[in-house]
Amino acid sequence: METPRTIQWVGDIDGFVRLIDQTLLPTRLEYRDCRTVEEIWEAIKVLRVRGAPAIGVAAAMGVVVGMQKFDGRERGAFASRLKDVCAYLRTSRPTAVNLFWALDRMQGHVRGRAEQEAPAKLQRLLLEEALAIEAEDRRMCRAIGEAGAKLIAEGKGVLTHCNAGGLATADFGTALAPMFVAAERGVPFHVYVDETRPLLQGARLTAWELQQRQIPLTLICDNMAAQVMKEGRVQLVIVGADRIAANGDTANKIGTYGVAVLAQAHGIPFYVAAPSSTFDLSLATGDAIPIEQRASSEVTHGFGKQTAPDGIGVYNPAFDVTPARLIAGIITEKGLIQPVSEASIRQAIG
Ligand code: MRU
Repeated sequence: METPRTIQWVGDIDGFVRLIDQTLLPTRLEYRDCRTVEEIWEAIKVLRVRGAPAIGVAAAMGVVVGMQKFDGRERGAFASRLKDVCAYLRTSRPTAVNLFWALDRMQGHVRGRAEQEAPAKLQRLLLEEALAIEAEDRRMCRAIGEAGAKLIAEGKGVLTHCNAGGLATADFGTALAPMFVAAERGVPFHVYVDETRPLLQGARLTAWELQQRQIPLTLICDNMAAQVMKEGRVQLVIVGADRIAANGDTANKIGTYGVAVLAQAHGIPFYVAAPSSTFDLSLATGDAIPIEQRASSEVTHGFGKQTAPDGIGVYNPAFDVTPARLIAGIITEKGLIQPVSEASIRQAIG
């Protein structure tokens, strides 16, 4: 099925980044063109482009726009400017490791060459690497779909949280990918979509994506998940990830941990789907994962309407960490990691 491109590079070396402005969905499908690194930074910060793999692709392309006009020829000037551009992009959001993974990869791709090659050659190398990251993400998501589809048997109810679909990746998604493959194979199943407070990625984005593909879904408020599980409507949970530590502890959208606890209480298998670019094997456990704190206005003035009194205290962590012991398996492009342990993760991801 032909779906709108979440993010793409338009043109050649002097081109620009075109992304779906996800803050406008589900009512408006509009594209936004970013021609400067500041515009990319802003798009990541305010969630015009969001979801760990898509943030990584955006950052890689952001490096290209940040370097494309650079013509300094003094020794070390290109490498110095590249370092500044990457350092700037690193400040956009802290939790999804794909951002840092992509920036490290962009810097690594020209490391050692920046002194010898002309800026034009280095700029082309950066564009090629950004496009390679995007293409790899597409392939990894498709492979995740193939690896996870067997979990979705006929008649199952599948619950998901936030949005880990095509909008959160270069294409096809992670948590939604097994559902897309199962639907392509004609397996009938039903998806329960958590609306995902406070920014409603589930209601606005996941519901939109499933509807586009004509996959049956029911939208629920986050606080309804326990009741829906108790009623026996859910047999499987699949969510995405922003960063997975070496022991399998997984950071994902705030509320994911609660869903995992509920799934365990009801004997429902809870799976995480993520590409290898979302693993951070430098962190022993999830305790070390940085959790983004966002503006209190997202809670008190959601979508422009004031819903709490003036001047109150608000706590707004954007992510939580689900302990590995609650995770039945991790669906990756390399196959299913099950059971989840440091040994099985290192063996699969290396
Ligand atoms: O704040 P967001 O919308 O970027 O959070 C997104 C999520 O938590 C996703 O589940 C995660 O990034 C995986 S996307 C394939």
